[in-house]
Amino acid sequence: MKIEDDNRVERSGEEDPGRRRVLAGLGVAAGSLIAAMIGLPILSYILVPVSRRMHRQWVSVGPVDRFTLGDTVLVSFENPSARPWAGVTGKTGAWVRRVGDSDFIAFVLNCSHLGCPVSWEAAPRLFFCPCHGSVYYEDGTVAAGPAPFPLQRFRVRVRGGQVELQTRPLPFAENL
Ligand code: FES
Repeated sequence: MKIEDDNRVERSGEEDPGRRRVLAGLGVAAGSLIAAMIGLPILSYILVPVSRRMHRQWVSVGPVDRFTLGDTVLVSFENPSARPWAGVTGKTGAWVRRVGDSDFIAFVLNCSHLGCPVSWEAAPRLFFCPCHGSVYYEDGTVAAGPAPFPLQRFRVRVRGGQVELQTRPLPFAENL
């Protein structure tokens, strides 16, 4: 009887290895969670611009001869960043203006307010947004309305007689 009592006293002084393992596991899990909470936003801050850059593609919108000097015309093309199930919404467009033999300007269709497609009116040489009345001058700067900044522009180049726009995932807020 005495021997049993001694053993019980000895055991109560030892740490339970199972309990220690559980606590260590909880500590590692909590540390990992905190590291993920801090690390994921930093990683996405670094990787999102890289992934956006990877989605940039040059798309042809027609031969140079299709565009008359000074005219602003609507072109449409397949959005390379569209999801496979996008259907017709995978198509997007741009307002393209020829300003020289090989010089072009291309504006995105979307109003900088909430993204409605703007239309070009040749007589007043203005872009109009039908949704909340924003108006843009021919250079894309805001003339009136709630639009917070000018119409975005695509990069444009001429290759092999074709006018090409550099596309990127929409919407994009920063200037090209
Ligand atoms: S979306 Fe164009 S003015 Fe609101």
